[in-house]
Amino acid sequence: MAGFIAAQCGIGGNEGSPLIVLGIETSCDETAAAVCRDGNILSSIISSQEIHKAFGGVVPELASREHERLLNELVGKALQDAGVALTDLQGIAVTHGPGLAGTLLTGVCFSKGLSQGLGIPFIAINHLEAHIFANFLADPTLEYPFICLLVSGGHTQLWQVDGLGKYRLLGETRDDAAGEAFDKGARILGLGYPGGPEIEKRAKNGNPEAVQFPRSFLNSDTMEFSFSGLKTSLLYYMDRFAGEVSEQALADVAASYQAAIIDVLTEKLSLALERTNIRSAVIAGGVAANRALRRKIAKRLPDKKVVFPDLIHCTDNAAMVAYLGEMKLNDGQVSPLDIDIVPNLKLS
Ligand code: KG4
Ligand code: ZN
Repeated sequence: MAGFIAAQCGIGGNEGSPLIVLGIETSCDETAAAVCRDGNILSSIISSQEIHKAFGGVVPELASREHERLLNELVGKALQDAGVALTDLQGIAVTHGPGLAGTLLTGVCFSKGLSQGLGIPFIAINHLEAHIFANFLADPTLEYPFICLLVSGGHTQLWQVDGLGKYRLLGETRDDAAGEAFDKGARILGLGYPGGPEIEKRAKNGNPEAVQFPRSFLNSDTMEFSFSGLKTSLLYYMDRFAGEVSEQALADVAASYQAAIIDVLTEKLSLALERTNIRSAVIAGGVAANRALRRKIAKRLPDKKVVFPDLIHCTDNAAMVAYLGEMKLNDGQVSPLDIDIVPNLKLS
């Protein structure tokens, strides 16, 4: 089926001419559209749904409705910004997992309709894979193999990346993801959602050594992670304040909590590089936006090549989807129109 669509549209692999691909991302609470041509992002629009702030987390039904409401307009704007007409498009790439079932459906149904109407290929994208490839937008000279520390709201994993579609899982979290640890920690501290940026902001004025929070597996030989004990430890620590915590104490706790997460992520990335003897690393996912993490990793690994995505491409966006979509299209990888959403999609 995939081959049939490719042949029908005259796209069967590396034919050399630059492709123009529209990318769409609706896996959670960011509605995003972007246009990529020949590896360059011509436009990228992200609308972060503010509606969830009042609930301290994403409300799936509301998120789906927002995507539904915004998508058409956002796609029109992305095309306009790129100076590209609908009929110039040669492919539509969309995230089909992992993510929330209802929100994924809005993007996938929209994209299937558009691709069918235009008679152009449809490319289903794995959100995790797109996060990894966002690093090529920051550094097009990046070469395989490299190690990827994938740190998002739902994932904390170490991957060895040997090429497009060639991934080996080296280790992952046994319980909470790093982003989840930031989000749950922020909730305990009475800060807003998403928790990562909130904790980072507070931590700037705090002492990271004020509280010794646990760092699971820090000095062990495993490439696994665990953050649930850290969250519990924070919960118990905050009991002492009985709801009356000063700004400075809050900053100290935030800085110490952030440091505990960052220390573990940095050491495990270092271990993965050492074990595989690979010289390059990339960081992917929302937590990669954390400046303290970026500083720590750069300092810890001065003799390695470490790539961080541009800040705007760390959290969810469609530029990474359009970029990977174009790469796949160039490789002749298109999807059948009956491909479904996969809310718990894995990388391999
Ligand atoms: O990749 P992403 O936007 O969505 C998922 O695919 O999950 O990641 C979202 C996660 C959230 O848990 C959020 O708190 C975290 O990334 N995050 C951060 C920062 N910005 C976003 N964590 C730490 N520091 C940040 N600056
Ligand atoms: Zn993401």
